[in-house]
Amino acid sequence: MHIDRLERYWLTAVAAMLGSFVAALVVSVTVFGIRLPSPVDRIDPQHLEETEFAEPGIRAVGGNRYEVHIVAKMWSYDAGPEAGAAGAPPVIRIPNGSQVTFYVTSRDIIHGFYIEQHSVNLEVIPGQVARASTLFNRPGTYKIICNQYCGAGHQTMYGDIIVE
Ligand code: CUA
Repeated sequence: MHIDRLERYWLTAVAAMLGSFVAALVVSVTVFGIRLPSPVDRIDPQHLEETEFAEPGIRAVGGNRYEVHIVAKMWSYDAGPEAGAAGAPPVIRIPNGSQVTFYVTSRDIIHGFYIEQHSVNLEVIPGQVARASTLFNRPGTYKIICNQYCGAGHQTMYGDIIVE
């Protein structure tokens, strides 16, 4: 079969490019340990009261480590009574230097969970538990926002994390 010289060049260039993309993927997974965010658990969104999300809130787990369970719903985050009145935007207070793991689920539809200036950006899907861990080492107030459009009250879904 005759392949034109220019066509052969382009085929080689495309093959080399595809090869380098695949190599980059393999290196990012094996060398840098980069993973797609994936659900850590599955639960029944109709029966959250029978799960670890029955009492959302902050728990100290020793050292400077904390776990925060949060339930997203139309249109607020429930982070437990310590974080303020039910239905109001939660205010989560944590000491500076804390490593915090967030467990977030939804009781109705898909929401987002984004913390500004920190590497937390979760898609919160009913039936799944999303998890992200981050270090808070700069005092200040950081917004939690729902960054998935979720209906009429979407813009009221936010909260504060106060690092003190
Ligand atoms: Cu919840 Cu947007």
